[in-house]
Amino acid sequence: MKPVPAEPMAFRPKGAHDLIGRPAHVAEALLRKARRLRQSPSSNLRVLLYGPPGVGKTTIAELVAAELTGGQSLCVEEANGKMVSAETVRLWMASLAHAGNLFGDWSVVLVNEVDRASRDAQDLLLSYLDKMPPGRAFLATSNLDLSALTDRFQSRFQAIRLEAPATEEIAAFLRARWRIPADLAARIAVGSGGNVRAALLDLQTFLDAADAAPKPTKPNPNRNGERRHARRSRI
Ligand SMILES: Nc1ncnc2c1ncn2[C@@H]1O[C@H](COP(=O)(O)OP(=O)(O)OP(=O)(O)O)[C@@H](O)[C@H]1O
Ligand SMILES: [Mg+2]
Repeated sequence: MKPVPAEPMAFRPKGAHDLIGRPAHVAEALLRKARRLRQSPSSNLRVLLYGPPGVGKTTIAELVAAELTGGQSLCVEEANGKMVSAETVRLWMASLAHAGNLFGDWSVVLVNEVDRASRDAQDLLLSYLDKMPPGRAFLATSNLDLSALTDRFQSRFQAIRLEAPATEEIAAFLRARWRIPADLAARIAVGSGGNVRAALLDLQTFLDAADAAPKPTKPNPNRNGERRHARRSRI
């Protein structure tokens, strides 16, 4: 196992091997596909990852974007749906005219919480997705169930639901990486309700509190002797 960051909240998965539960399998399959596409950008890629919070949707989208672009962050534009206006989508559409980019064959747009984009932006996104040439990827994430997105919108994506890892998987992950006692790991995992980010936050809070607590000191025989003496002399 690789060296582990001391702080649970600083933990950032570097690949499918760092993820747990079903999301690890989804990441493996998507990264395999991204590796294949990177070598021959014969098609575009449109993926929507949806499911409960804190299970790895953004993480996987970012890993796929990095795989497609060979880690060229300048080829990846990441935005939150709330910030995506019709004007933003118009700019993306204008950029479709240019094949590739200065830095590589792939250009990726990654939109988190795509359901929060304005109605106008979502309508324009439909045409954008239809016009995407090979070598372009649109990766989106959403906390909502697919039924909350319009049919027209969801049918333009390969929509993949990410299930939360099981409680036992989260507990085993915390135990293995941070070497904490099994009962503590189980308690945190149950409390997280499948949200791995929440589990890491709880563990961080626990470790910080344990750090702040006064450490039991070794009894100092001299000081004890002094105290015994002081008590005796008071009598
Ligand atoms: N399946 C997982 N395996 C290991 N760690 C995970 C997993 N899912 C989430 N994490 C941890 O939680 C952090 C946040 O995950 P991420 O942002 O990808 O979740 P998300 O599904 O996009 O959440 P949200 O719906 O709130 O946006 C990651 O950086 C990682 O530390
Ligand atoms: Mg996210």
